[in-house]
Amino acid sequence: MVEGLKLFAQKDGHVLEIASGPVFVTGAAGGIGSQLVDELLSAGHQVCAMDVNPDLLDKRCADWGRNVYPIAFDATDPDATKDAVRAGVDRLGVPFGIVNIAGDNRIKPLTEISDAEWRYLIDVNLTSTFYMCREVLPLMAAERVGRVINTSSIFGLRGQANDAAYCAAKAGVIGLTRALAVEYAGRNIAVNSIAPVATLTERVAKLDPSHLDGQLQRIPMGRFSEVSDVTAAFHFLLSPGAAFFTGQVLSPNGGDWMP
Ligand SMILES: NC(=O)c1ccc[n+]([C@@H]2O[C@H](COP(=O)([O-])OP(=O)(O)OC[C@H]3O[C@@H](n4cnc5c(N)ncnc54)[C@H](O)[C@@H]3O)[C@@H](O)[C@H]2O)c1
Repeated sequence: MVEGLKLFAQKDGHVLEIASGPVFVTGAAGGIGSQLVDELLSAGHQVCAMDVNPDLLDKRCADWGRNVYPIAFDATDPDATKDAVRAGVDRLGVPFGIVNIAGDNRIKPLTEISDAEWRYLIDVNLTSTFYMCREVLPLMAAERVGRVINTSSIFGLRGQANDAAYCAAKAGVIGLTRALAVEYAGRNIAVNSIAPVATLTERVAKLDPSHLDGQLQRIPMGRFSEVSDVTAAFHFLLSPGAAFFTGQVLSPNGGDWMP
């Protein structure tokens, strides 16, 4: 059961409080991240909202208007990540949950992807997740509780033309998640990933419509994901009911991909 930030478990018929703590969210100023932060705040959580875009973060903070600690940082920079996590922990304490959402994409055929673009997409989607996990998991391990949720994509599960670097990075997020799930399971930390199908954020609305039409035709439910379909998966993985889920990929995808 969840009550604000507090997490409870049952033992011998008694209800025990087992954890409480803030949630750190990267990519917090973006389409999915900003709605998640809003919903976590509404549920009474303390949130550290982390993003590379300070102006957008300021604008979002004005909208959120409450118990949130914003940090502008570049998740592809290991030193900046270390400093940002330290600042968040100094202010709010060791997080109960981290939700790694920061990411980006460029749609391009294989032969047009430059070395710099390849490295950027691997860095912003995969290496950034590794840096956050490397900073936060030891802190959670000392508390012997925590939830980590890493954002992959349907394209981490199946292929997509003109998307090689993103597909590789998002598949890497799933591999990283599974490895850390095993490594930290004995310290009561669950590490999972989510792999949404195309989700109607501003970034996606700017894509070439022909690119999106092809994707829509694949989805048996006949619609794209709403942001709330994705945030529902995050909320579940942060909830007490998800305590025994680790190393899993939760994919809100309307039936596009079934393992
Ligand atoms: N929208 C979709 O269709 C969809 C589908 C599957 C997966 N995803 C994944 O979900 C996540 C969010 O997607 P979105 O549509 O909300 O995108 P978005 O562009 O709206 O949000 C991404 C956020 O990440 C931030 N960010 C980018 N680089 C960063 C960096 N170096 N350091 C810190 N923050 C950084 C951006 O400033 C932005 O606020 C991404 O990881 C994306 O790959 C999205």
